[in-house]
Amino acid sequence: MFNELKKYITKPELYAPSTNKFWDDDHISKGLLDAHLNPNWDAATRKPEFLDKSVNWISKIAPSSQYRFLLDLGCGPGLYAERFNNAGYSVTGVDFSKRSISYAKEQASLNKSNIVYHYQNYLTIDYVEQFDVITLIYCDYAALSIGDRLILLRKVHQALKPKGKFIFDVFTPLMRKAESSSRPYYEESGFWSEKPHICFESVYQYDDEDNTELRQSIVLTEETVNCYNIWDHFFTKETLLSEIQTIGFNSFEFYGDIAGKEFSDTGETICAVFTK
Ligand SMILES: C[S@@+](CC[C@H](N)C(=O)[O-])C[C@H]1O[C@@H](n2cnc3c(N)ncnc32)[C@H](O)[C@@H]1O
Repeated sequence: MFNELKKYITKPELYAPSTNKFWDDDHISKGLLDAHLNPNWDAATRKPEFLDKSVNWISKIAPSSQYRFLLDLGCGPGLYAERFNNAGYSVTGVDFSKRSISYAKEQASLNKSNIVYHYQNYLTIDYVEQFDVITLIYCDYAALSIGDRLILLRKVHQALKPKGKFIFDVFTPLMRKAESSSRPYYEESGFWSEKPHICFESVYQYDDEDNTELRQSIVLTEETVNCYNIWDHFFTKETLLSEIQTIGFNSFEFYGDIAGKEFSDTGETICAVFTK
C-alpha cells in the first residue's frame, strides 16, 4: 500500500493513465447512470429542458426530412437519442459504458423506438458516408488528447455524407479550474467505491500547448488504491478552427451552446457546426 501510494505524491506526467476504467467501471457506472437520470443534476448530462431545446434547435438547422441518418457519439443512456428518434431521425448511438447502453436499449424497447445502439469506443468507428448528422454532446470532445481528437475528426469526416454536419460542444477557458486538493472520506458506499473509502482529489494544470487540465481522484479502500485521471481541454473559436482545418470540412458555424444560443466571447461553452 505504501509503495502504491508513493507513486502519487508528485504531479502526474501528462496523460498518465488511470489504473481502472471510469465510465465503464461496474460500481462507478451506477452513480453515473443515476446522474444522467436525475433531472435536477447536470453532472453527466444537462437538464431535460435543455435537452428538449437542443434537439429542437438541431432539428431546425438539420431537419430530419433532409438529414435523416444521425449518429450520436457518447450517447450515454440515450436521452438525446430518444428525442432525436421522436424528431424523425433514424438514430444510431455509440457509447462505451455497458450500463448506459443496456439502459438505452431497454428504453428503446419499452418506447418501441427504432434506435440502433452499439457498445463501442467511438475512436474505433469505421463508417463510410453513412450519416447526415453526427453529434458529440456535453463537451466530450474536450476530454480527448489532440492525437485522439484528430483520429476522431477523421473518422467523423469519413462517416458523414457530403454536406453532412458534425455538431459538438466544448468548454471555453472560463471553465478552467484553479489547482486544488481535498480528501473527502466516505464511511459507507459512495460514488467511487461500494466500500468505505478516502478519496484524494486534486486538480492539476499543465502549461502545454493544449491547455491541459487533470482532475485526479485516488481512491483508497482498506485493500486497494485506484487512480482515476480525467483529462480536459478548453477551446476558443480560433483553436477549434485551427485543428479542424486540416481535416477538410467545407464550412463552419459557431454558437454559444448546443441549443443555438448566439456565440459570445465571454460564454462558458462553444458549439461548433462543421459541414462536410
Ligand atoms: C458527459 S457524458 C454525456 C452523455 C450524452 N452525450 C449526454 O449529453 O447526455 C459522456 C458519455 O460519453 C461516453 N464516452 C466517453 N468516451 C467515450 C469513448 N471513447 N467512446 C464511447 N463513449 C465514450 C461515456 O460513457 C458517457 O456516456
